[in-house]
Amino acid sequence: MKPLGVGVVGCGVISEIYLTNAALFPQIELRAVADLNPEAARAKGEAHGVPAMSPAELMARDDIDIVLNLTIPAAHVEVGLAALEAGKHVYSEKPLAGSTAEARRLLEAAEARGLRIGCAPDTFLGGAHQSARALLDAGRIGTPTAGTATLMLAGHERWHPNPDFYYAGPGAGPLFDMGPYYITAMVAQLGPVRRVTALAAKGRDSRVIATGPRAGQSVPVETPTHITGVLEFASGALVQIVTSFDVKAHGHAPLELYGTEGTLIIPDPNRFDGTVRLYREDWQDQPTTHAHGDGNYRGLGLAEMATAIQAGRPHRASGALALHALEVIETLLASAESGRAIPLETTCERPAAMPAGGRTGDISAAEAA
Ligand SMILES: NC(=O)c1ccc[n+]([C@@H]2O[C@H](COP(=O)([O-])OP(=O)(O)OC[C@H]3O[C@@H](n4cnc5c(N)ncnc54)[C@H](O)[C@@H]3O)[C@@H](O)[C@H]2O)c1
Repeated sequence: MKPLGVGVVGCGVISEIYLTNAALFPQIELRAVADLNPEAARAKGEAHGVPAMSPAELMARDDIDIVLNLTIPAAHVEVGLAALEAGKHVYSEKPLAGSTAEARRLLEAAEARGLRIGCAPDTFLGGAHQSARALLDAGRIGTPTAGTATLMLAGHERWHPNPDFYYAGPGAGPLFDMGPYYITAMVAQLGPVRRVTALAAKGRDSRVIATGPRAGQSVPVETPTHITGVLEFASGALVQIVTSFDVKAHGHAPLELYGTEGTLIIPDPNRFDGTVRLYREDWQDQPTTHAHGDGNYRGLGLAEMATAIQAGRPHRASGALALHALEVIETLLASAESGRAIPLETTCERPAAMPAGGRTGDISAAEAA
């Protein structure tokens, strides 16, 4: 099968791993890079041997099938719509959009043109999470009834020189920042969410920057920084989710799933690797049974989407999944404000499992799954 041509728009921090990993995946071929800042595009193009150009020039190229949108979140919809108008499929970094209303616009525009939308995170396709999924599907914990998703940190001002945006109003806070990883991972394991409830608090009114030229400066906190909620899945399973920038240390695993016959501990959903642990009579570390579990494989979801386009089947890191995760985030915060449990409007398919085995870059067997 001939590779699909990919053009990268947005040549910032995260572009490096995508540009490096592109060589792992024969399903895609990098054909161009672009950025509002021509110098950023030039530098990445030179480093990776890809022509650099303006975003408009990239969109006009006939040899680009998929626009990989790695711009800042505020530009995701504008760049995505421009790519769709130019007849390109879109794969976007998270979040898909700033709100579910905007995300729906993107999905509708893609649908109208018969084009695909894919979105990060794709860590749920990695070796660690797919190994856990295989154990779940094999009934090793029986029927899943409950679980926990826990992301608790002391706050990014401890290492980030300009942490203002993590604390500034709507769209900020730990749930928007890290929630997509945890929610997408749980939906990939359990299927869609039906209803959510939450409460939220703000640990401090301001934060002090610890590093860089602004060290010692205060940043105002205009968003909840500790959100604790419950996701009621369509399956009936209940998952507690906590995301916080107010916790110095804790002893919880990132993700735990409880079933009628056992418990699964699933590693960090921001990573492709890690050890899955299973409890039936005692704790046992589990082998990684699937490929892409020994490193950082960002771009796996893009390559899988390219394969799915060629095969004419649905792709796994889909726009519908990203829209659903975004609605879960928005609705948790709305529930915390209103004090009510709120049903979700969106739903999505539980993405198909990846087949066991395989080697890096080979996702052809995913067709059969
Ligand atoms: N940095 C990370 O570790 C990380 C991790 C996971 C996900 N992400 C996500 O990746 C995306 C990018 O993050 P980043 O850290 O690379 O940001 P960044 O600020 O380093 O880079 C973004 C780039 O996009 C360019 N850009 C902005 N608007 C544009 C537009 N309209 N057209 C073309 N180019 C435009 C900017 O000039 C900049 O070079 C974000 O959605 C972020 O949430 C980042």
